[in-house]
Amino acid sequence: MKKLLTCLFAAGMLAGTSAVVIASNGPETINLKEKFSVTGKKPAVIFPHRTHQEKLDCTNCHSTDKGGPLKVKIEKTTGMSNDFHKKFCWPCHVERKVPKGKSCSTCHKK
Ligand code: HEC
Ligand code: HEC
Ligand code: HEC
Repeated sequence: MKKLLTCLFAAGMLAGTSAVVIASNGPETINLKEKFSVTGKKPAVIFPHRTHQEKLDCTNCHSTDKGGPLKVKIEKTTGMSNDFHKKFCWPCHVERKVPKGKSCSTCHKK
């Protein structure tokens, strides 16, 4: 019994720790259409936040290494020349040579 309790306690500690890490690192994925109240007919972009965190530093996108406001100010959200395409997602994908980094279906998944 004592062993079982110890196990449960250890599992609880682990779960607790990972919950804290996830909370401070922000969501695993982010629906950008919702978050930025984007209007338009393209399928919503579900941004794989965690995938990016694994490959990059927070400060590639955020103002601090704990997150905070994005370095790029997103103002225009309509049409092809929206700020996500022009100032944020596309420039980095081109710079880092992300495979299919500018293909519509990489980001706008049905
Ligand atoms: C490739 C770009 C990118 C990287 C790298 C990145 N993030 Fe984010 N993050 C975003 C975007 C885009 C959002 C959604 C827009 C927003 O919340 O301003 C976001 C949202 C967040 C949020 C939620 C903010 C809110 O108001 O809900 C937190 C917390 C966060 N990021 C923390 C981090 C931390 C910590 C790191 C580094 C370990 C990191 N991010 C790395 C792009 C990035
Ligand atoms: C600072 C650089 C940077 C920015 C900004 C950035 N990305 Fe990326 N993105 C990457 C890199 C690097 C990869 C390749 C990751 C890998 O190799 O798994 C990637 C891959 C992706 C993928 C494919 C993920 C997969 O599972 O294969 C998607 C989707 C994506 N990015 C969407 C976005 C969207 C949407 C934005 C803007 C909101 C954005 N990215 C902004 C660097 C960036
Ligand atoms: C690297 C990621 C990425 C790629 C690749 C991408 N987009 Fe986007 N796009 C976004 C993000 C982020 C938004 C704003 C959030 C949303 O609409 O969900 C957006 C918004 C849009 C909008 C304005 C909103 C709307 O629904 O009308 C249009 C139009 C658009 N994209 C068309 C395209 C087309 C066409 C392609 C292929 C040539 C493309 N996008 C490729 C990330 C991307």
